[in-house]
Amino acid sequence: MSGLLHRVDVSTPGASTAANYPVFIGSGVLKQAVPALESFCHGAQVLVVSNSTVAPLYLDRLLALLPNKALSHCILPDGESHKNLQQAERIFTALSALRASRDVTLIALGGGMIGDITGFAASLWMRGVNFIQVPTTLLAMVDSSVGGKTAVNLAAGKNLIGAFWQPVAVFADTDLLDTLPARELSAGFAEVLKYGAINDADFFAWLEQNVNVLMHKEPTLLSEAIRRSVQNKADVVGRDPLERGERMLLNFGHTFGHALELAGNYGGILHGEAVAIGMLAAAHLSAQLHPNLAVDGQHTLRLQNLIRAFGLPQKPAFATRSEELLAHMKLDKKSLSGQLRLIPWRGIGQAYVGNASDEQILRAWAAIL
Ligand SMILES: NC(=O)c1ccc[n+]([C@@H]2O[C@H](COP(=O)([O-])OP(=O)(O)OC[C@H]3O[C@@H](n4cnc5c(N)ncnc54)[C@H](O)[C@@H]3O)[C@@H](O)[C@H]2O)c1
Repeated sequence: MSGLLHRVDVSTPGASTAANYPVFIGSGVLKQAVPALESFCHGAQVLVVSNSTVAPLYLDRLLALLPNKALSHCILPDGESHKNLQQAERIFTALSALRASRDVTLIALGGGMIGDITGFAASLWMRGVNFIQVPTTLLAMVDSSVGGKTAVNLAAGKNLIGAFWQPVAVFADTDLLDTLPARELSAGFAEVLKYGAINDADFFAWLEQNVNVLMHKEPTLLSEAIRRSVQNKADVVGRDPLERGERMLLNFGHTFGHALELAGNYGGILHGEAVAIGMLAAAHLSAQLHPNLAVDGQHTLRLQNLIRAFGLPQKPAFATRSEELLAHMKLDKKSLSGQLRLIPWRGIGQAYVGNASDEQILRAWAAIL
């Protein structure tokens, strides 16, 4: 591939989760990647799933790359509140109208919301069909399009039903980020810096050096940041596809963050913003757990500074209390038989799976609020 284009191969083991697929990354990769997008659509039929914001911007560009296919599209309303069974059913209705067979390909064109619901539908149509991810947000490029987690929400909670279902290819074209609102870009950088924070101190330092250029979407450095993030995720899901151990580290900041999303009724804060504040809370918790280890003010301060430099908040914009947030954390589906699993760290690049007392969690929240 050319100098600007990268390829990361994801390889997951396991009887039910075995898969190998490329993630193409870079400016113009949708058009220039080899093998071409069309070659990953095995049968003649292709259904592109997108939303009412992204489709007017990029649907025609995508369809033009598939001249030899029978093309259809299904455009869902924008917003996390639509990542539900009713909208998944619209995808099934579109597939039924096509009389889609087992060799149909679904293409998800959008952010994580579209990627998750399209993957969910692909995992179920005729017990599982081909699907391709074309992520259009930074968050989807570095996180949700890779690793095979698919889901929709129920009234009872986020992502409660879903399956592990891997795409056959991911095309992360940084040109599609041109139209992404600044706040969404920042939210994506929360997941990027997370990879450095959990197990890659060099990457964290590289981000500290390049944050200003990255915020201007400079294509070479942006592609490199995405490549390193995807490589990091690929390494982890390759060793632990079903999140039985190491993959849990990717939830750094997430149990704290999910509590904030719930406190804000899923409208008060973006996922990436909640993760940023959640990572800070995890750092404050870690400082209590390891007073004698490497978690000194410097690590927390560096995290705080990088979060600020990426335009991310350090506390929620709405009123909430530590006790309320602790109660929400206990509802999180990642708590195992009542025991809250947390991801503390021993400093930048040294996260691990652990737990803490209610008092320690409350003190961590108090340091944030
Ligand atoms: N499967 C996983 O492993 C995983 C991991 C993390 C998050 N997620 C899921 O991802 C979702 C969040 O993803 P997200 O942050 O991408 O949100 P999103 O998909 O809701 O997109 C955010 C907003 O940006 C708009 N948008 C997308 N691309 C655009 C573009 N190029 N130009 C202009 N506007 C654009 C969207 O229409 C939307 O309004 C949540 O549902 C979350 O649960 C899944």
